[in-house]
Amino acid sequence: MFKRRHVLSMRDFSREEIDSVLETAASLEPYAREKSTDLLSGKILALLFFEPSTRTRMSFETAMKRLGGKTINLGSAEASSIAKGESLADTVRVIGEYADALVIRHPKEGSARLAAEFSPVPVLNGGDGAGHHPTQTLLDLYTIKKESHLENLSVALVGDLKYGRTVHSLAYALALYGAEINLVSPPTLRMPEQIRTDLLGKGTRVSETSDLSEVINRVDVLYVTRIQRERFPDPLEYSKVARSYRITPENLTDVKDGLIIMHPLPRVDEISPAVDQTPHAVYFKQSFYGVPVRMALLKMILDGGQDGGLECGGEIRGTSKDRSKDRSGGWSG
Ligand code: NCD
Repeated sequence: MFKRRHVLSMRDFSREEIDSVLETAASLEPYAREKSTDLLSGKILALLFFEPSTRTRMSFETAMKRLGGKTINLGSAEASSIAKGESLADTVRVIGEYADALVIRHPKEGSARLAAEFSPVPVLNGGDGAGHHPTQTLLDLYTIKKESHLENLSVALVGDLKYGRTVHSLAYALALYGAEINLVSPPTLRMPEQIRTDLLGKGTRVSETSDLSEVINRVDVLYVTRIQRERFPDPLEYSKVARSYRITPENLTDVKDGLIIMHPLPRVDEISPAVDQTPHAVYFKQSFYGVPVRMALLKMILDGGQDGGLECGGEIRGTSKDRSKDRSGGWSG
């Protein structure tokens, strides 16, 4: 089901498939700290990061090494042939011959799907501009399952819902679990229309407001995001919405007992450090869970031989002949 599969968007995954990743992650969690395994000994993961990253890059690297595999790193774009004008297509074609899988982060939306068109090995989307971030969503779901519950969940997605790729991917996945989704953002940073339409089309209960106090006391999960400064075409527009929300212990006096506060990190000023000491804060655990979850993905994709075509969104893809086929996943129809 996962062998040689691209991981491009949560729209390509069913609930059963997500559950199997979360179960595998739970079984590998003991190996994510201290112990290691040799499950992926002899395999190589290539890291192609064209945008800054701490957690995604380093947790993929840790995951691969804990599984006994190795990583190779493109390094900064300036130090590679990208600086000479080489295209992304040519780059992934070449690196796909060196490695068994690629993780790519790139500022352009759709770049991971493009890379998958040309890569001879599975591509994992580590964030494509304001598009998607599916591996972050899998670790977010793992966190929710461990620290709260996935059934009958009420979630508030807070902050930059326009440019924030983590909340785009997470919203699709939460819909598969029947969660109630409360969207909280400044009016100019609302969840894209297409995503809201998709959610409603799947029967998801969705509310929308710019006032966090309307929902904070009735949700199980507060998922806070950074205003994505680097995506604003005009710095003046950023300054108008910077510091729109700031969670402090004072906001939390009437919240549900079991409320968990999540953040994909990095945080700027959306969550006061004083919140870190409260039982609600799980964002540092969340970033650790990136290791077992990425271990699970790598194991499921790489452990099991190299025969067959590349699979994407449930369809077996040819590696070269049928590149012109539509690659959208089941979700968007
Ligand atoms: C996020 C990202 O890169 O989209 N970070 C992450 O991967 N943990 C969130 C962000 O940058 O705000």
